[in-house]
Amino acid sequence: MNQAKDADQSRMQKIVSLCKRRGFLFQSSEIYGGIQGFWDYGPLGVELKKNVKDAWWRDMVSAHNDLDAPAGAPSAYSMVGLDCTILMHPQVWKCSGHYDLFHDYMVDCRESQKRYRHDQVRGRWAECKDQRIFVATNVEPEEEEEDTQRRAMKFFKLRNKDLDRLSWDGGFASLTTVDTFDQVLGPDAKKLGTLTEPREFNLMFKTFVGALSGEEGAAFLRPETAQGIFVNFKNVLDSTRVKLPLGIAQVGKSFRNEITPRNFTFRSREFEQMEIEFFCSPEESHKWYQYWRDRRMNWYQQMGLSSDRLQLREHDADELSHYSTGTADIEYAFPFLDPGDYGELEGIAHRGDFDLRSHMEGKLDPDTNPLELELNEDGKPRWKGSGQNLSYRNPDPPNETYTPHVIEPSAGADRATLAFLCEAYYEDKAPDEKGKMQERVVMRLHPRIAPMKAAVFPLVKKDGMPDIAKQIYLDLKPHFNVFYDEKGAVGRRYRRQDEAGTPYCITVDGQTLEDNTVTIRDRDSLEQIRVKVDECAQVIRERLQ
Ligand code: GAP
Repeated sequence: MNQAKDADQSRMQKIVSLCKRRGFLFQSSEIYGGIQGFWDYGPLGVELKKNVKDAWWRDMVSAHNDLDAPAGAPSAYSMVGLDCTILMHPQVWKCSGHYDLFHDYMVDCRESQKRYRHDQVRGRWAECKDQRIFVATNVEPEEEEEDTQRRAMKFFKLRNKDLDRLSWDGGFASLTTVDTFDQVLGPDAKKLGTLTEPREFNLMFKTFVGALSGEEGAAFLRPETAQGIFVNFKNVLDSTRVKLPLGIAQVGKSFRNEITPRNFTFRSREFEQMEIEFFCSPEESHKWYQYWRDRRMNWYQQMGLSSDRLQLREHDADELSHYSTGTADIEYAFPFLDPGDYGELEGIAHRGDFDLRSHMEGKLDPDTNPLELELNEDGKPRWKGSGQNLSYRNPDPPNETYTPHVIEPSAGADRATLAFLCEAYYEDKAPDEKGKMQERVVMRLHPRIAPMKAAVFPLVKKDGMPDIAKQIYLDLKPHFNVFYDEKGAVGRRYRRQDEAGTPYCITVDGQTLEDNTVTIRDRDSLEQIRVKVDECAQVIRERLQ
């Protein structure tokens, strides 16, 4: 178990360092010391993430055939897209429940003035000199042991030679297992009992629109793209005349003021979502839920996450919201997690008519929903729905009217990108120009999402080889992202492209001068084939598909 954990953690460190070294990801505002929870995509990263979003959009929206039912679908259906604003009317968040319910519990430390997420602080019970204290920590898992030991020794004023006077009662546990905090040593505290009781903390970022700085101008950065789709449902129906079943898709930034962003880009404060709200009749909704759950799982597998690190986890009945008849998470065993743990890539939720009804009526079933209606002094609700009729009249017999039910496959573009990066990382050996096997790092990214599809090299910088290679580069450039490189030994150039995940390298060599052929080297199999220069684009295009 520990060996597996160490191997995963060292693999993760190598991935993080490759991401920085090769320009996939940088910490935001790094020259000023960085800002926690925000990440910038470098030249390779921006292409990778764009390809992930484009592949999703193409497979889910633009290449979708509205006329025929795809395999496994209960019937044919339509797919359209939207691009909504990040700031919306504040009432949207009241009716969606985010204003009242979208919070985490946090604890503050009176001594260090720091704030922590209650369920993310961990620690262990230490005993020494007849005293038992819970030593809390908020560092990365691999540093927990060292951090708690060092601070416990300092607290009990022990020197290294007194280590055997300190004993641990049980393993690491969450702070949520501790009832009272008077015997807790906070993660950055020197004294006991400095943590406050857990308090609610809303995760939405607040800002002010226009010149008004008071509450009248208050607005929130969207914590999900989904609500833009719900509030435009009627606009889409009226402007496109599409019928149900209908999926509306959106890709865009979302913002959450996560109390403890961590694990590289996995939990960020600014991130991108790829969401579909799929509207259908209540009777068919469960079949559609099953369809989307399986379809989305297949998508990740087709895009390269086919290893045993991927799983589909159905929520148990007691985990479901009252309006939901099913929710499943697609999860990936990221190497920064403990062995056996999985992190969510995407949730597929059956949301019933919760969202549309809430935007129509602004109130929910008081028996089953925890939202409480706030009342004005006159006894009228302080927040209301839009009052718009968001129900659907089926134009085909039996022409019934109903509030559509919604299936929501909600994915994170950054988490998917991170999973593809983690899955792609391999270390193996490849021959150099003298045929000697050399260690290499290779990013086996699916060719569809690889930042560059091919690199073109002249074997040497003479005999007209660079001119031929440059012409091939210029001919390929309009078709896909290509890179030209003539510097250094060709073996080193191959290895640089392996690290960038470039699936094909085209080399102009001595034979090119005789028969106008070049080699195409396959990143994964290392196989080299010879093709005519003017067939290069076609051969690579076929292989990319
Ligand atoms: N509309 C439903 C919704 O937003 P969610 O489970 O909160 O559901 C959906 O988020 C997806 O968005 C997650 O599965 C994850 O991929 C991504 N996501 C959520 N919070 C994130 C964060 N702080 N950082 C990066 N990605 C996040």
